[in-house]
Amino acid sequence: MAEFVPVPSFDLVVFGASGDLALRKLFPSLFHRFKDGQIPIDSRIVGVARQALTRDAFRKSVSDGFVNLAKGDASSPEFQAFLDLIDYVALDATRADGPWDLLVQSLAGGKDKVRVFYLSTPPSVFGGICAQLRDAGLVSPLSRVVLEKPLGRDLASAKAINDAVAEVFSEDRVYRIDHYLGKETVQNLLVLRFANALFEPVWSRAAIDHVQITVAETIGVGSRGDYYDKSGAMRDMVQNHLLQLLCLVAMEPPNSVDADAIRTEKIKVLQALVPIGPNDVAAHSVRGQYREGLVESEPVKGYLEELGPGRTSSTETYVALKAEIANWRWSGVPFYLRTGKRLPSRRSEIVVTFRPPPHSLFDQGGEPNQLVMRLQPDEGMEMWLQIKEPGPGGLRVKSVPLDLSYETAFTLRYPDAYERLLMDVVRGNLSLFMRKDEVEAAWAWVDQVIAAWDATSSHPHPYTAGSDGPLQAALLMDRDGRKWRDLI
Ligand code: BG6
Repeated sequence: MAEFVPVPSFDLVVFGASGDLALRKLFPSLFHRFKDGQIPIDSRIVGVARQALTRDAFRKSVSDGFVNLAKGDASSPEFQAFLDLIDYVALDATRADGPWDLLVQSLAGGKDKVRVFYLSTPPSVFGGICAQLRDAGLVSPLSRVVLEKPLGRDLASAKAINDAVAEVFSEDRVYRIDHYLGKETVQNLLVLRFANALFEPVWSRAAIDHVQITVAETIGVGSRGDYYDKSGAMRDMVQNHLLQLLCLVAMEPPNSVDADAIRTEKIKVLQALVPIGPNDVAAHSVRGQYREGLVESEPVKGYLEELGPGRTSSTETYVALKAEIANWRWSGVPFYLRTGKRLPSRRSEIVVTFRPPPHSLFDQGGEPNQLVMRLQPDEGMEMWLQIKEPGPGGLRVKSVPLDLSYETAFTLRYPDAYERLLMDVVRGNLSLFMRKDEVEAAWAWVDQVIAAWDATSSHPHPYTAGSDGPLQAALLMDRDGRKWRDLI
C-alpha cells in the first residue's frame, strides 16, 4: 500500500512559473501530492515570472496547463483548494530594481518554514537569481534552492554556475534535479541490486558481457528548437540522464542509502570513464539527425524543418556511444548508450547481457541470459532464461523471459518523477539529487567527446524519422559482434 507521510508545511517559490516545465510537470505534481494529503493546507506556492498577470490569471494558467498539458481534470473541489495555495508575483528575477518587495510580502511570516526556491529558468541566470534572493533578504536559515537541468553547457559554465550559487547556498542546500532519478523504476535499480543477494556475485566482468542503456523518444524537438539546437542529444540527455543510469548500474555498493554515500559511489564511476578522444571518437560514437518520416504511422517533419525555414544545423538528435569504465569490476565490459528523438517507439531500458555458458551441451539455444529493466513505458523487468521447450520432438532449448510488469503486480497510480523529487526537497533528502562534483565529472567526460567531434569536423548522419537511427549505430555494435535490442 502506498503511504503518504505529510511533509512539514512549506513555502515554494517557482521562478519561470509560466514556462512549459512548471505548467506541465511542477504544478500538476504538486497537485497530486496535495490531493494525496501529503502537502499541508497552510503551505504556500508562489509563481514568479516576468509576465504582468494577476493572481487569478496565473491560477487560470495553472489550471489550463493541468488540463491541456498534463491531461488532468481541474474541475474537482480538491483542485480548487490547491489553487488557493497559489500566489503570483510578476518580476524579472535577474534585475535588482524589480519589485522584490512583492515577493517579500508574499512570503511574510514564513521565516520558520522550509522555503524552497525552484529555478526553472535558463541556467545562465541561476547565479544572478540567487544573489538577488540574498540581497532581498529572502534566504532564511531553512531555505534551499532547486536547479533545473541543464546545469551549464560545458564544464567551465557548470563550474561558474556552481560557484555563483555557492556564494549564497551551501552545498547541502542545493538540489540539482535530474528527473530520471525520480522515476520509480530508476530508484528500483538500487533496490534490485542491493536488496537481492542474487545479483552481486554476477554483477561484474566475470559474468557480464556488456550493458546497453537506451532512452528512445518518439517526440521531435517541437517548440524547444531554440534551446535544443544549442544543446543536442549529448548535452540534453547523455550528460545527465544516461550517465546517471550508467552510474546506478555500475557503482559499487554504497555503505548506506545516505545521499553522500550514494553520490560518492556514483562519482567514482564517472571518474573511471575512459576518455573518448579524437583518435577513437569515430569507433566509439555515432551522431545522427532526423529527417522527415513516419512515426507511429504519422508523417512528421525533419529536424531542420522543425527549426524553421532555411535553417541549417549540425546539432545531433541521436547519439550512440561505446563507453568503457576503467576499474576492476568493469574493465573490458562495454556500456553502449543510445538516445534519440523521432525513433519508432518511446522506450527507456537497461539491458544487461551475461556471458554465454562456458561449454554448450545442446545443439540449439546458446542465447545469452539477459536482464532487461524497462524504465518506461510498461515499467517492469524481464530475466531471459533458456528452458527446454515442452513437448515431443527432441530436446529443444528456447529463450523465454520471466516477466514482471509493474502494472499487473501493483495497482497504483504511477507518480510522476517530479512528485517524489519535490517532496524530497521539502524533506531535505538529497539522495536523488546530483552533487556539484558529480555534475562536473559528467561534464568533463562529455566535453572531451564533443571536443573530439569538433576536432574531427564530423557531422551527424541523417536518419529517417521513425527508423532505429543511423545505420552507423548498428555498425558500432556489429563491429563488436553484438546487436542493439530491437526498439519495437
Ligand atoms: C528532458 C530533456 O530532460 O528529458 C528532453 O530535456 C526529453 O529533451 C526529456 O524529452 C525526456 O524525459 P522523459 O521523462 O519523458 O523520458
